[in-house]
Amino acid sequence: MKQLKIHLPVKDIPRQWYNVLPSLPKPLPEAKDPKGDFSPIELMKKIRPRSLQEQDAAPNKWITIPEDVLDKYLKIGRPTLLQRAVNLEKYLKTPAKIFFKREDLLPTGSFKLNTSIAQAFYAKEEKFEGLISETGAGQWGTAVCVSAKLYDLQAQIFMARISYEQKLYRRYYMKLYGGDVYPSPSTKTAAGRKMLDDRPGHPGSIGTGISEAVETAANYNGKFAYVSGSNLPHVLLHQTVIGLETMKQMKLISEKPDILIACVGGGSNLGGFFLPFFEEKMKKPGSITFLAAESTAVPRLTKGTYRYDAGDSSGLTPLTKSYTLGQDFIPPEIHIGGLRQHSGSPIIGLLRHEGLLDAVAFDQTDIFEAGRLFSICEGILPAPESCHAISAAIKVALEAKEEGKERTIVFCLSGSGFFDLEGYRQILLSDKKKDVYAHA
Ligand SMILES: Cc1ncc(COP(=O)(O)O)c(C=O)c1O
Repeated sequence: MKQLKIHLPVKDIPRQWYNVLPSLPKPLPEAKDPKGDFSPIELMKKIRPRSLQEQDAAPNKWITIPEDVLDKYLKIGRPTLLQRAVNLEKYLKTPAKIFFKREDLLPTGSFKLNTSIAQAFYAKEEKFEGLISETGAGQWGTAVCVSAKLYDLQAQIFMARISYEQKLYRRYYMKLYGGDVYPSPSTKTAAGRKMLDDRPGHPGSIGTGISEAVETAANYNGKFAYVSGSNLPHVLLHQTVIGLETMKQMKLISEKPDILIACVGGGSNLGGFFLPFFEEKMKKPGSITFLAAESTAVPRLTKGTYRYDAGDSSGLTPLTKSYTLGQDFIPPEIHIGGLRQHSGSPIIGLLRHEGLLDAVAFDQTDIFEAGRLFSICEGILPAPESCHAISAAIKVALEAKEEGKERTIVFCLSGSGFFDLEGYRQILLSDKKKDVYAHA
């Protein structure tokens, strides 16, 4: 019998996060201030927990997960399952094996809790009274509100206006946990008011939310911590529980991945999933391929440039080096809120620049069709962001079929699609629908 579900015993949960920084082929380019008197670097020192700033430049390879965070990881259902997509393999008639890591099973519906719990823990330890952040689709904002509640902290979230309007129930979910949720751009901040003046009806993005969250945290003068859901090294660090568990699960069934696949927004599920395999990849070149799946509407890794840029729309954050579409880029109003940002993680940027990360982009009509096929075959409804990883896994499985090669594909199912049914409805029940996989 094929092993379809690979459980990792609770006693084997990773007790340390993996820090890739000392093993990178080149030092990570340092963050810089823009020209002028204003120093985002100094501002960040005041509004971000010190422990997280230290983790952004930690020299040691392993960082112990605090006992309290570990307890909460167990409470939310870690370790998560690794599962095999046998029905999808059968449908595609591929010789490839397709495995996927079930981050959709976490209570808020995505992997984001892995870092929000850790960030809330450090913020509480450092006596902050609350957390402020942005959110695209609402997955990160929900994780922040739930984690804030777990640590008796307040929460304020700036949600990209397009998602605020498309995903009413995400908004209620955050409010249920006591979070204050504002559409971004909003009239609450100077940054938001300027954006609305420049472009009435601005749809917002993760970048606009960051600007407003940072400005608001600055106005609280150290009372509220600004926390980030992606991009920064400490976020990828906390997310390495995903890859570390996957490694152990693959060992349990004596399998090795030929290719790891994840969708990419800021880069945190991808980084958390891939980075624990990085040293193995470097030791045996060609042994494991890392493949990022992004949206053709926001093609940072496939069409962006590798250069310094601010992570937000108004230039309130330090300049970091990564692939960017430019601070002024306003992502189209697509249904994939979690991938709508102009720039991304410096670690992921460096890997891409050094030729260690492949990337592929998919159109939103095609990814929803891949999500539909996956959900019909496997009985699991994926988040639209995760559908990019599914599209890439299907592409690789069909190539393996063409070439008659056995390949072991492992992808990260970063989230559940329960709150995204409106997107599925608008794409699949409209005349934009295509039967993309009819030929498979
Ligand atoms: C379900 C899901 N997957 C993926 C992402 C992309 O984020 P990242 O690139 O940081 O993993 C998001 C972001 O909100 C998300 O909600």
